Amino acid sequence: MKGLLKRFFLFSVFTILTLNVMAQEKTVQTAGRDQLGEFAPKFAELNDDILFGEVWSRTDRLGLRDRSLVTITSLISQGITDNSLIYHLQSAKKNGITRTEISEIITHIAFYAGWPKAWAAFNLAKNIWTEDTAGNSAKEEFQKKMIFPVGEPNTAYAQYFTGNSYLAPISQEQVNVSNVTFEPGCRNNWHIHKATKGGGQMLIGVAGRGWYQEEGKPAQEILPGTVIHIPAGVKHWHGAASDSWFAHLAFEIAGEKTSNEWLEPVTDEQYTRAQESVRTVVAYFSATGTTAKAAEKIAKETRGELYEITPASAYTSEDLDWHDSKSRSSVEMNDPDSRPEIGGKKLDTENYDVIFIGYPIWWGLAPRIINTFIESHDLKGKTVIPFATSGGSSIGNSTETLKKTYPELEWEKGLLINRSSENEFREWISQAYITE
Ligand SMILES: Cc1cc2nc3c(=O)[nH]c(=O)nc-3n(C[C@H](O)[C@H](O)[C@H](O)COP(=O)(O)O)c2cc1C
Repeated sequence: MKGLLKRFFLFSVFTILTLNVMAQEKTVQTAGRDQLGEFAPKFAELNDDILFGEVWSRTDRLGLRDRSLVTITSLISQGITDNSLIYHLQSAKKNGITRTEISEIITHIAFYAGWPKAWAAFNLAKNIWTEDTAGNSAKEEFQKKMIFPVGEPNTAYAQYFTGNSYLAPISQEQVNVSNVTFEPGCRNNWHIHKATKGGGQMLIGVAGRGWYQEEGKPAQEILPGTVIHIPAGVKHWHGAASDSWFAHLAFEIAGEKTSNEWLEPVTDEQYTRAQESVRTVVAYFSATGTTAKAAEKIAKETRGELYEITPASAYTSEDLDWHDSKSRSSVEMNDPDSRPEIGGKKLDTENYDVIFIGYPIWWGLAPRIINTFIESHDLKGKTVIPFATSGGSSIGNSTETLKKTYPELEWEKGLLINRSSENEFREWISQAYITE
């Protein structure tokens, strides 16, 4: 399980196979050698290695989508409507030209290159963008479930999206609000809303099911009514679930010197991992409420569930008196074999992948009831993350002792919550969900 979590953010290694590759990847083409390798080896070599291997690959100067646009325009203008146009129409589709766009492109070409050539090209294009007709009706179906319009293809920002999205301005006064619709699997690139003051964005899910993820954190599901506050400066992405259309309203939050920094696409691997929800529980023992507060903070941050380790017999203030060597806590802590009984319902650890375990530091250690909890629950294969609060002692001794006592468990670094900065806290949380 730890492995799975660690891979949560692994960047995928791109496989370079077809024309449909990310910009700036080298294009690999074998059509020349496959079809003419024997008959015209030099032509095949020039086709595969120079035209595709070099010219098409200079994507840092002109992207694949634009190269497709130039190529199909040129072929149609010459009246070439054989297999090579079919191939290039297919590539154009893979390179992001949508059904609406190709229909517009060919209509445009018709005026410059000739009506009959456009007719011939339309007949081929119609067979390539077929499923998009089905996609269109899925879009119409989705529209029926939503009071806001789907709007127009989001061409202006298409380069920062994987898959097709649509944009409908809802308000351009007081607060800028747009409705953004994503087809299944569509998401925007990692990006940051920048501002010197204020800024950021607020999303409200309106239809379907989608995801929002901040870097280093588990993804959060967005359903109709879910509100997401994206602070300025936070790297994140949002989009549809892989099996659902999705729309959210996007509210631009006023700020000073606001801008958007678009970053790399969310890889398929990151996207898949984001949707494998990591189930988190924050189990804690707290005698006087300090650790309970820390546990709530962690649960909020990780969207985990809370589980209180409740002693069968509650600790009274006399029990907690560390000046008295005969008090219940002193007696228990003096006896490494003491296992105070737990009351209440057992935690069903099967439901979770990540288990935080929190406690107050007692005599530099975890209270013995923590041992009772660990020994009475199956934590094997889970990511176990200790945390504590104390009057001043560090957490180190208690976690070292726990690790030595239960070496079979996958312990992550612990944190003393009431002596840590916000930054330390956030970094520590992300260790469970991010690759090192
Ligand atoms: C029996 C007992 C022993 C304690 N031992 C230590 C200690 O060794 N070092 C320390 O810094 N604080 C110690 N404390 C203080 C607690 O760790 C601290 O108040 C903690 O935040 C209480 O958490 P709680 O409110 O969740 O019970 C002790 C408290 C008790 C009751």
